[in-house]
Amino acid sequence: MSTRLLDFVTAMTRLCDASPADEALLLERAAPLMRALVAQDDWLPSAMAVPHPQHYQQHLLYGDPLDRFSLVSFVWGPGQKTPIHDHTVWGVIAMLRGAECGQRYERTPAGALAVVGEEAWLAPGELEVVSPTLGDIHQVRNAFDDRVSISIHLYGGNIGRISRHVFMPDTGAVKDFVSGYSNALTPNLWAGEQA
Ligand code: FE2
Repeated sequence: MSTRLLDFVTAMTRLCDASPADEALLLERAAPLMRALVAQDDWLPSAMAVPHPQHYQQHLLYGDPLDRFSLVSFVWGPGQKTPIHDHTVWGVIAMLRGAECGQRYERTPAGALAVVGEEAWLAPGELEVVSPTLGDIHQVRNAFDDRVSISIHLYGGNIGRISRHVFMPDTGAVKDFVSGYSNALTPNLWAGEQA
């Protein structure tokens, strides 16, 4: 069995021990770890690659017990997309299988939403970074209407439990949300109280 995921978690834990509050340094050093993680598509457990017919899935792969980082398998069914949303913590998105398209936004001084740049295509092996300091608002979709795509997301906190925001595209109106995790069938220490 591949030790790719365990190797990643070990290295990421050591990195957080060494640079706990330095976002720039964490991003700089986490990027090559994420690149190595998605360099080969031979390690993701099949249960963490299951799509849902209606909703994109966020399977928690690992949650740091000190909430310094979390790692999520983001599984897109054909044609699925997120609302426009933010994260409030840094994140590194690495494409594993298929492809996704991301459109960035920013808030204008008047509170509306403005498109930033062109929609970007993320291919297997490529990375995307988000953070409150580098640009945190985007909308992401499966690039394909006829197949599953999977990206691996690393966040600088327990993303499933963090209160963040979705934005209405026309008005910029903001709504709080907590994404949770899709791993309903396994005990999940990192999603709060156990059922
Ligand atoms: Fe996102």
